[in-house]
Amino acid sequence: MQIKLTNDGSRTLYSEEFDACYHSESGAWSESRLVYLQHSGVDASLAAGQNTSVLEIGLGTGMNFLVTADRAIQSNAPLTYTAIDNFRPPATIIRELSLQSQLTTPGMESAWLDYYDRPIRHAQPLSWMPPVVFTPLAGQAEILVQDCQLLPSLSFDAIYLDAFSPAISPELWTEKFFADLYRILKQGGKLTTYCVKSTIQKKLKPLGFCVQTPPGPEGGKRQVLLATKD
Ligand SMILES: C[S@@+](CC[C@H](N)C(=O)[O-])C[C@H]1O[C@@H](n2cnc3c(N)ncnc32)[C@H](O)[C@@H]1O
Repeated sequence: MQIKLTNDGSRTLYSEEFDACYHSESGAWSESRLVYLQHSGVDASLAAGQNTSVLEIGLGTGMNFLVTADRAIQSNAPLTYTAIDNFRPPATIIRELSLQSQLTTPGMESAWLDYYDRPIRHAQPLSWMPPVVFTPLAGQAEILVQDCQLLPSLSFDAIYLDAFSPAISPELWTEKFFADLYRILKQGGKLTTYCVKSTIQKKLKPLGFCVQTPPGPEGGKRQVLLATKD
């Protein structure tokens, strides 16, 4: 694993094993904020003080989680955040990302590093920093979402689909997986991702998703994907 400096000054990880970055090289924080927090409607929901539930596929460095948790804390809005990953990067690497530099709430990075230093408590909700409840799930997302017994909720306001590309993680871009995600989204709930491939859009539409392609972050992808459960 290597640290990669992205164009907005924030850092992300590069995995040699998959020859893939954890975020857009045009700006890791810009991508987290726009594609996930904002396009998903979570930013607006938290700003209005509403109770909001998010499922993230691919927790990775925790950047998307921290951006969202920061917003919830600033708005004092209850956030329940469930995140799945089948791999946890070492805490020593996470330390080098200097995550606090982009966050408003003091102490978030150290709270995150404390979590990283401890053994993962699979499927145990953690009252992380009030009003945020964080539930980490370790394992294959396609299996955990299909079984759904370990999920703390069966109706999410938003799903952040931040998997590696369809070429690297094909199991997270199948019709079957999208159908399972559709099932656990609330009516009007939104799934966001950076991948706008027409093959992916063609799998989402027949399931009942309304698919839009809003602009991506400055200097990055021209369009990203927003799929709403109608
Ligand atoms: C693009 S990175 C996620 C970046 C992350 N959202 C962040 O903020 O750092 C993709 C993640 O998907 C995870 N992953 C790959 N295949 C998976 C699978 N089948 N089930 C669960 N996680 C998977 C990888 O371990 C990696 O952390």
